[in-house]
Amino acid sequence: MIEVFAPAKINLALHVTGRREDGYHLLDTLVAFAPVGDTLRLRPAPGLSLTVSGPEGAAVPAGPENLVLRAAAFVPGAGGAEIELIKRLPTASGIGGGSSDAAAMLRGLAHLRAVTVPAEGLERLGADVPMCLSPHPARVTGIGERIVPVTLPELPAVLVNPRVAVATPAVFRALSRRDGAPMPDLPVFARVSDCIDWLSAQRNDLEAPAVALAPEIGAVLGALRQTAGCRLARMSGSGATCFGLFATMAEAEAAADALRATHPGWWIASGALGDQAVRSAPKPV
Ligand code: C5P
Repeated sequence: MIEVFAPAKINLALHVTGRREDGYHLLDTLVAFAPVGDTLRLRPAPGLSLTVSGPEGAAVPAGPENLVLRAAAFVPGAGGAEIELIKRLPTASGIGGGSSDAAAMLRGLAHLRAVTVPAEGLERLGADVPMCLSPHPARVTGIGERIVPVTLPELPAVLVNPRVAVATPAVFRALSRRDGAPMPDLPVFARVSDCIDWLSAQRNDLEAPAVALAPEIGAVLGALRQTAGCRLARMSGSGATCFGLFATMAEAEAAADALRATHPGWWIASGALGDQAVRSAPKPV
């Protein structure tokens, strides 16, 4: 049996720069991954089967519509597998849970069966699947299929979800402008604070429409901004999960504890965004 980690994807900035003829939006986004995520356990088997467990498992369908099973069907010659998905990330929450699970499935199958994952068309599984396949900091354009790896400092972060599910298409529909400026070229950051200062000058264009649809997101951003040491608070993806960035992990962990005490109903996690703690390689168990 092997185990594959499916980390949360955080959009540090997300600019909507246009729209394709098929209605999908063109994005310019900077992503990094968190050491918080779902786990997939895979055992070779004659057919494909899926069971879902974990604290967030109840909201996830285990039928053929599950992205993990659709990802398995995407790889020619992958054969069967007994799949256990341990769900820790809230669903429909802007941190790529389903896409990251699908990408972890693809990494797992490549490892288990020595098959090659087709490079083309992965975005049809979900716009975030290509960027989750190799979960390292990247600048991503198109609808999510053009990926350029970047170097960022490890960013101490708190992730907060107010437990409202936000439908991505509704947020895109509520956008008032679809022609935002792309991000400027990424400088080389000597320090965490330089990176946070640069990010502060960028934006998530989906934040205002998402807050209008789900005011709880505004409450999360307000609470993060009032937490000691928070240097930047922003929503990820189409929400509702928001992140706060801090200078140190000690500050981020203290902020997470403080928010857990004042908002026991919120989903709250902390960790450094970046490569150090995000173990994406499948490992035998
Ligand atoms: O591909 P995914 O399932 O993540 O996208 C959900 C929906 O969000 C799409 O059907 C589309 O309405 C909207 N979307 C978009 N532009 C993107 C990504 C998603 O309009 N770049």
